[in-house]
Parts: sequence; C-alpha cells; structure tokens
Amino acid sequence: FRCVNNLTDERRELISTLPFELGWLPMFMHFYQGFWYTTRQLNMILPVQHQFRALDSDIILASTPKSGTIWLKAILFSLLHQSYYYSNITVDHPLLRKNLHELVPFLEFLHMLDMNPDLSAFTSPRLLATHIPFGSLPEFMKDFECKIVYLCRNPKDTYVSLWQFTNNLLPKEIGTTSSLEETFDKFCRGVSMDGPFWDHVLGYYKASLEMPHKVFFLTYEEMKEKPREQLKRLASFLGCPFSEDEEEVDEILRLCSFDNLSKLEVNQNGKLSTGHENKSFFRKGEVGDWVSYLTPDMIERIDRITEEKFHGSDLKL
Ligand code: A3P
Repeated sequence: FRCVNNLTDERRELISTLPFELGWLPMFMHFYQGFWYTTRQLNMILPVQHQFRALDSDIILASTPKSGTIWLKAILFSLLHQSYYYSNITVDHPLLRKNLHELVPFLEFLHMLDMNPDLSAFTSPRLLATHIPFGSLPEFMKDFECKIVYLCRNPKDTYVSLWQFTNNLLPKEIGTTSSLEETFDKFCRGVSMDGPFWDHVLGYYKASLEMPHKVFFLTYEEMKEKPREQLKRLASFLGCPFSEDEEEVDEILRLCSFDNLSKLEVNQNGKLSTGHENKSFFRKGEVGDWVSYLTPDMIERIDRITEEKFHGSDLKL
C-alpha cells in the first residue's frame, strides 16, 4: 500500500481483508463488491461511495475504461455548451484549450484530491464521469433523478486498448510491453481495472432497460457507425434536442472527432495533474484493431465468454 497517498487506517483495514491478485502493472488489485481495482482506485472509490451527493440535475458519464470515454466527454460537453457554437466554436471553445479530463472530471479523481471536493464552481447541470460499476454507485445516486449516460465497447478492442495504455504506464526498468498472454488471461478472468468487463456492461445495461428515462446505454461501435443518429438520441435524452438546422450536429461531431482532438496542442503535449500524458488517450480510435493482436485461440476464448455472459440478454458487443 506504500505507493498510495492518504490511505486512511480505516481504508487500509478494509482493503487488507479483500481477496487480491497481482494486476497488470506491478501492483496489487483487490476484489471489492464483485469488481477488481488497484489499491489507488479503491482509495478513490471508497470516498465517492461515502461522500458524493448527486443532484437531480447532474449528468454522469459512466463507462468501462478504454471505451472512448474521452470522446463522449467531448460530445457531452459540447452538447451542454451549445452556446459556444453560436459565439465562435472554432476559436474559443474550451475543448480546444483544455484537457477533457479536466473539463469533465472523474468523480474518483475529484475525491482522490480531496475527501469532500468543492463542486460549487460547476455550472448546472454538472457533467461528471465515473468508471464505478452500477451496483457500486452511491445508493442515493441510483434513487435520484440524475441522468446517466453509459458507454462501452466491444471487449476485444477494449482489451487491446487497455493493454496499450497500460504499457505506457510500465516503469522503465520493467520494459515497454507487458505480456499479451498474461494480461489477456487476467482480462478474461475479470482481473482488469473495474473488471469483470462483462459484469460492468451488464449492470448498466439492465439499469437502462429498467430505467430508460435515467440510464442511456451506448456503444463505441454504434457511435462510430451512426454518429449523427446517436448524437441526436443523446441530445433528446438529455433534454437539449437540436433545432431543425442540423449544421450544429455536424459541427459538434467535427469538433469531437479523433482527428481534430488528437491534433490539438493541448492533447499532443499537455499532461494531467496525475502525470498522464494527454496523448495517451488518443491512440488509433478505430473499430476492429484487435485483429492485429489476438490469436485465433484468444478470439475463440473471449467470444465464448461474451456469449456466455450475455446469454439471455439482447446485448451484442
Ligand atoms: P484505442 O486505444 O483503440 O485507439 P478512454 O477515453 O475510455 O480511455 O478510451 C480511449 C480510446 O478511445 C482509445 O482507443 C482512443 O484512441 C479512443 N478515442 C479517443 N478519442 C476518440 C475520438 N474522438 N473518436 C474515436 N475514438 C477516440
């Protein structure tokens, strides 16, 4: 636990009682409420569960890691700040200057910096993000009227993206890539950040069926395939539909495109307060990149798990 700052005695005690396993990076992961987290993650999630008070007007972007969260952050931010479009979207938009993880912060990071973060500076509706699984969200958040937009992605691309991202975080003395076989095995067994991946997806999927007015379920692939249609659906769900003039839809999609965001100075050379380079969140941005990495055996294994896990639901990823 030594590498984790401000780990209180209470949290240390709780964490020490949890099943654990070596994670993708040379650090332990712990099994808490049915999901796997690094010690650092747990140290952020526990205060969110205990301290965060949602407002009815809040909009929460929930996602599995590497599902394109940053893209949806850009889209939601643009949707909720459409006035920039009328002023001068191409020159003055905050997206052009700031990192998206600062504009739309993760609840977990806010609570890592401060047990009781001051969120009063956020304009209403507050737009926040999280990777916390549905079942582990703070209780009152599930009862309240805040809206949740959930994003996930097919497991093979999610795995490859996560593997590449983790490689960037490896300490230099360990090397530049972690073993594909080992991390793939862990992913399939559910031992990955906020994993099991499939349970994360199912939790929000079921919630979206039970509470369609409150939980909006979206996949990376749907967004890629029919971006205009999905953006309009999202806008109606959030209560800010577009006018007849569809120019604005296209402008938001252009502004938030991989090409545009990944080439911005802030995303090429900027860094987050956590030390992560902004550019590590923009790799390829494609569907199906997994074909270059996974062997036929790996594909067979992961497809079988997906089929078994989603059996009985209409879910296809
Ligand atoms: P790849 O590693 O497959 O390229 P997250 O934000 O959840 O960490 O997800 C990161 C993934 O989303 C990366 O996938 C990244 O390249 C992709 N991505 C980032 N911005 C995107 C955009 N504007 N459009 C499509 N994909 C994007």
